[in-house]
Amino acid sequence: MKKITEQLTERLRAAFKTCGYEEKFGVISVSNRPDLCQYQCNGAMAAAKQYRMAPIEIARQIVADCNEDPIFSKFEAVMPGFINITLSNQFLSKMLAVMAEEEKLGVTSGKPKKIVIDYGGPNVAKPLHVGHLRSAIIGESLKRIKRFMGDQVVGDIHLGDWGLQMGLIIEELRDRQPELVYFKKGYTGEYPKEPPFTLSELEEIYPAASAKSKEDEEFNERAHRAILRIQNLDPAYMALWQHIMSVSLPDLRRNYENLNVSFDVWKGESDVKPYINEMIDDLKERGVAYESQGALVVDIARDEDTKELPPCIVRKSDGAAIYATSDLATILDREKLYQPDQYIYLADKRQELHFTQVFRTARKAGYVKPDTRMDYIGFGTMNGKDGKPFKTRQGGVMRLEYLLKEVEDAVYKKIEENRTMEEEEARATAKIVGLAAVKYGDLSNQAGKDYIFDVERFASFEGNTGPYILYTMVRIKSILAKYKESGKGIKIAALTENTDREYSGSETDLMLAASRFAEIIEKAAEELAPHKICQYIYELSNAFNSFYHENRILAQEEEEKQAQWIALITIVLRILSRCTDLLGFESPNRM
Ligand code: ARG
Repeated sequence: MKKITEQLTERLRAAFKTCGYEEKFGVISVSNRPDLCQYQCNGAMAAAKQYRMAPIEIARQIVADCNEDPIFSKFEAVMPGFINITLSNQFLSKMLAVMAEEEKLGVTSGKPKKIVIDYGGPNVAKPLHVGHLRSAIIGESLKRIKRFMGDQVVGDIHLGDWGLQMGLIIEELRDRQPELVYFKKGYTGEYPKEPPFTLSELEEIYPAASAKSKEDEEFNERAHRAILRIQNLDPAYMALWQHIMSVSLPDLRRNYENLNVSFDVWKGESDVKPYINEMIDDLKERGVAYESQGALVVDIARDEDTKELPPCIVRKSDGAAIYATSDLATILDREKLYQPDQYIYLADKRQELHFTQVFRTARKAGYVKPDTRMDYIGFGTMNGKDGKPFKTRQGGVMRLEYLLKEVEDAVYKKIEENRTMEEEEARATAKIVGLAAVKYGDLSNQAGKDYIFDVERFASFEGNTGPYILYTMVRIKSILAKYKESGKGIKIAALTENTDREYSGSETDLMLAASRFAEIIEKAAEELAPHKICQYIYELSNAFNSFYHENRILAQEEEEKQAQWIALITIVLRILSRCTDLLGFESPNRM
């Protein structure tokens, strides 16, 4: 299906040509004065310079050529030479009918790309906290968007399972329970199958160890040495490492399930261990990396840099692999398995330097093809109302599950106020709506920006919120259900009949908003920008609600008109459902 802007561009290019100008001036954009027109073309302004004419002259010629075309209801030249365009209702209505025939509502995909998305990135044995929320939410949405575009996407959680926290936990355990067999010198027997700690114990051990390491230098050093022992696959330390993994992973899985976030691959930093030695040798041998103060580093600075970028450390002076090492080795693994056309990484925006270093090193070493796209989406911080990183009331790190629960409870209270459903349904609905509130609250901000997490605002059924979008969907669902109950069937083709009637402004606005779906999705996919989808469904929901308040759909007596309205809102619901799915949440049937 040809999208509206494509059709308009074609038409305008032809007009410029007919009038004796270069076609390239036939450029269309969405109007920035929606009160005056829907689309605009500023090509006459540019052409006027080239042809040394008055812009309004050219604009008038274009108007004369297009004026009579039935796809426009208004096509006019305004001073000093703008062209204002409004589509006809007939055209819009028929476009929607064509769109509805397509599974993907007019979205067209290019050549499918292979994409690896690295998101989630939780650190094993540390509680999943709000800092990882954004990575999971944005990553999940991008995965869905790219898949919808027809790309082949592998979503990888990339567990932080190799870091200092593992060393800290093990050494803390040694201090608490030195009698454990793992710490016995010269022990060669089997290690117990049962972990020596529970999940809640583990959750208490890590913060205690972390605090201790800040005060106790000897302990801190021990933890660092423990990391080396894990990296060198010391049997006792590996056995403990396994226990930490087996206790933590089920909890992580449960948390992500609650978030409606899933991964195709559950690999971690530790999985690329087998690549590391060979990679280090290769970087050294080919002169990509060199020794500097005992460490092995790769220069990544480029002439065009505006600030000085330090080299990428691929091995520390004590021989330990670090963050960049595992990210590079992970690239080798992914190249071996998938040869992606694009990598997308999600991590806190404070990690920008790290990703610049890793990307440049990977390119310099030739680990990725020169045309492989490498994107890093550095997201901003989720702040509390005080503008500081979100914390619990006690000032601690807020656990994800408590945060979700808090929003869920706020939504539950709102549902209760309306008292339309039984307790059980109200709870289940609050869960769906609460999650949408959190995800929409996050995704509606441009990723790079910080935002304020405000339970009351996010959970509100009014304004630019997830619940508002869902409320709109529920409203449409209910109208459609009642329409069907009255024995009538939904007929999309109704949109192509009886189009010579009067249309109200709100109906035109709703049709226009619906007709933009495909272009918005394609843009969001290209720019890796789910917030554009949020912006769009907010506008679409507003357009629907204005239409709804102006027209009594179910009471409409002219059957043909009613059939068209029903077809229109059916498409609107389909769009909203698709978009919310792309954002990673669902809609209930009642609210
Ligand atoms: N585990 C890391 C953190 O908590 C995030 C991982 C991001 N992904 C990556 N490939 N480095 O900060």
